[in-house]
Amino acid sequence: MKIAIVGTGYVGLVSGACFSEMGVDVTCVDIDKEKIEGLQKGIIPIYEPGLKSIVLRNYDAERLHFTTDLASILNEMEIVFIAVGTPSDKDNNADLTYVMNVAETIANHMEKPLLIVTKSTVPVGTSFRVRDIIRKRLDERGLKDLRFDVASNPEFLKEGAAINDFMSPDRVVVGVETKEAEELMTKLYRPFLLNNFRVIFMDILSSEMTKYASNAMLATRISFMNDIANLCELVGADVNMVRRGMGSDSRIGRSFLYPGCGYGGSCFPKDIRAIMKVGENVGYEMKLIKAVEEVNNRQKTILFHKFNRYFGGNIKGKTVAVWGLSFKPETDDMRDAPSLTLIESLLEAEVNVRVYDPAAMHEARKKLGDSVYYANDIYDAANECDALIVPTEWKLFRMPNWSILKKIMQNHLVIDGRNIYNKQELASFGFEYMGIGMK
Ligand SMILES: NC(=O)c1ccc[n+]([C@@H]2O[C@H](COP(=O)([O-])OP(=O)(O)OC[C@H]3O[C@@H](n4cnc5c(N)ncnc54)[C@H](O)[C@@H]3O)[C@@H](O)[C@H]2O)c1
Repeated sequence: MKIAIVGTGYVGLVSGACFSEMGVDVTCVDIDKEKIEGLQKGIIPIYEPGLKSIVLRNYDAERLHFTTDLASILNEMEIVFIAVGTPSDKDNNADLTYVMNVAETIANHMEKPLLIVTKSTVPVGTSFRVRDIIRKRLDERGLKDLRFDVASNPEFLKEGAAINDFMSPDRVVVGVETKEAEELMTKLYRPFLLNNFRVIFMDILSSEMTKYASNAMLATRISFMNDIANLCELVGADVNMVRRGMGSDSRIGRSFLYPGCGYGGSCFPKDIRAIMKVGENVGYEMKLIKAVEEVNNRQKTILFHKFNRYFGGNIKGKTVAVWGLSFKPETDDMRDAPSLTLIESLLEAEVNVRVYDPAAMHEARKKLGDSVYYANDIYDAANECDALIVPTEWKLFRMPNWSILKKIMQNHLVIDGRNIYNKQELASFGFEYMGIGMK
């Protein structure tokens, strides 16, 4: 089977690599010439554990190809996936410019039957807009009898665990209109789910909605726990205990109940804004989701407020180490990361900031320029600092040498945005500790 994946970002590259690993002939397409030339030389543009070896292996085996020219390969394909970005536009709608550009290219060059699958996260109805653009153009080109199908196949992979998520998904959601599209998608996904075929077929509108509803539910759990954590602090309860007590109820479950300094990343913030807009556009106010966003915006400021309160507002000229910049561990993605909210507030208050991240230093330089010191390791970051703040829970940060930190830090305050440390243990080394949701 020959397929093309248009958009070679986190989703497109991971999907392309994993499909090719199963023996499919995959061409990854991107308009970013530098990215494609890099990939043709074996340079992987993103940090994602396990991705590099799969890309190199399949590229060498000539099952995985890279091009900037969709038009030239389009008519060799059975399926084309659209996996381009759908960022927020200035009004918080999902910006569909990239998706529609791909639809235009397909419409202008298609000459054989094709299945066009939207993998990008898109508002309900987008796949039909793609279908209508293509149908209209084909008719104009005198190709009234040329058949094609559209389908929706939202992606649920998590950055940092993307390969495993794609190779062994909990489920695959596919929205289709025809039996032929269902058969083709079944053929494509069967190798991933040989023992237990967990593809859920449905209509296209429901498939598109499933993605937004899933992200909204996960974000809701996070904001819910953050609200509970803040209340715990005020009434003297310990959210870690509350979380264990709650999560043991099988109706609630343990996952996504971790309080912290807010969610970020390339998906939750923009998808939450987009689903609210989907509601607004049909006259329905998503009240709960609105509150989820408000709670998250407040939570992203919490580390700064803890630091500021500790020093009674006298923070100008202090120095802070920030460990962890990516929006979560095992990725270099800093889009909407809580670390950025923290660092912006620190810099505004004229605090010196020393940062370290195992993977996102390159991204950080693009976003923060010369405004912070880029440390070589965690100890270099903490040198002579007044406080250590941890917005992202990389494994590397979990067991630092506290004796070294005691010696090199000027003041011994740790503000833990992900509750990875133990207050008593840190006290035994002479550190003051502040977590989330503890008195
Ligand atoms: N990143 C995630 O964890 C994740 C998970 C699930 C779903 N999604 C969704 O998948 C989609 C893609 O996300 P991403 O994080 O991979 O985005 P990304 O920004 O990493 O990559 C998008 C790529 O599309 C390319 N592109 C834009 N217009 C193009 C065109 N006309 N032709 C070819 N390439 C084009 C860009 O150059 C870029 O390389 C989004 O809708 C996102 O919401 C992302």
